[in-house]
Amino acid sequence: MKSKLEQIRKQAQEALEKVSDSDALLNLEKKFLGRKAELARISKQMKDLADAERPLIGKLINDVKRDISSIIQKKRSETGGVGKSKEFDYTLPGLRPNIGHVHPIMRFLEKIEDIFMKMGYEVADGPELETQEYNFDLLNFPDEHPARDTQDTFYVDVKDSKGREKLLRTHTSNVQIHAMKTRKPPVRILVPGRVFRNERTDAGHEAIFYQCEGFVIDENIKITDLMGTLELFVKRLYGKEAKIRVRPHFFPFTEPSVEVDMSCLLCKGDGCPFCKKTGWVEVLGAGMIHPNVLENMNVDPKKYSGFAFGLGIDRFMMLYYQVNDIRLSYGGDLRFLEQF
Ligand code: DAH
Repeated sequence: MKSKLEQIRKQAQEALEKVSDSDALLNLEKKFLGRKAELARISKQMKDLADAERPLIGKLINDVKRDISSIIQKKRSETGGVGKSKEFDYTLPGLRPNIGHVHPIMRFLEKIEDIFMKMGYEVADGPELETQEYNFDLLNFPDEHPARDTQDTFYVDVKDSKGREKLLRTHTSNVQIHAMKTRKPPVRILVPGRVFRNERTDAGHEAIFYQCEGFVIDENIKITDLMGTLELFVKRLYGKEAKIRVRPHFFPFTEPSVEVDMSCLLCKGDGCPFCKKTGWVEVLGAGMIHPNVLENMNVDPKKYSGFAFGLGIDRFMMLYYQVNDIRLSYGGDLRFLEQF
């Protein structure tokens, strides 16, 4: 048995000496130290040995195992590790996983939030499935007033607690009222969100799109604060050359109300199809919050005043990235999305 062990030691040394790649090394390790190796078989026969012999043979088995292991360790560091494969080349470029990215509308929304948050605004949220009360009544739309029709509302087959049909909100202005349930002036609030209108879609219109509402309520807020805020906003977003112009308009929830146009960035004001050859693009509605609306928010209109504005995020995004059809944003076509 002793000579058998010495023989194994010698065979292993010789075989390992010649080895030069990690696969062959692994095979030899199995052959000499594995469960079915000669050494393992001999270890099992230990119990049949005479008492005097057993410790000597036991020690020899251990010595042989240790020697073989240490040669294997040494060889392993020479051949570059354990493994099936050939050498691992860690200079090869990795495989890039296909993980997608933030949608351009959302990315643009983050830009808008960032600008307003730096002006001290907080971001608030509100429901998309809404009651007529919050979408219209509390915003000073009189019953049966034609202004309700201008919003092409999707009514839903769900009743509110007063038995009236609910609707998909037509604008983010509903959150003006919701937000003021839990707040007191002074406030500066920004409300980005999805809105719904039963519109025929074309290059400039979608039935589901994004708006961003903003409003400020404090003592002594004037329309000039609104103008200054909007001007600063467009310049921060588009750069110094961006200009705004204001036209009188009507919204039930603001008085006075205005519509705001921005100089067309596609043609730099010369006139192009996007701005309908006027050099200006309508981008938002705004005004001073109507005293009736302030009362509906439980705010005293004699003490406080406020301005509000609502902008179409899609329009702003299209101007920014020079996209000429709003439907591209929502089509989910990767050829479009991967450009951002
Ligand atoms: N809610 C209006 C719309 O969807 C936009 C708007 C106009 C919001 C004037 C305002 C505002 O807060 O003051 O057409």
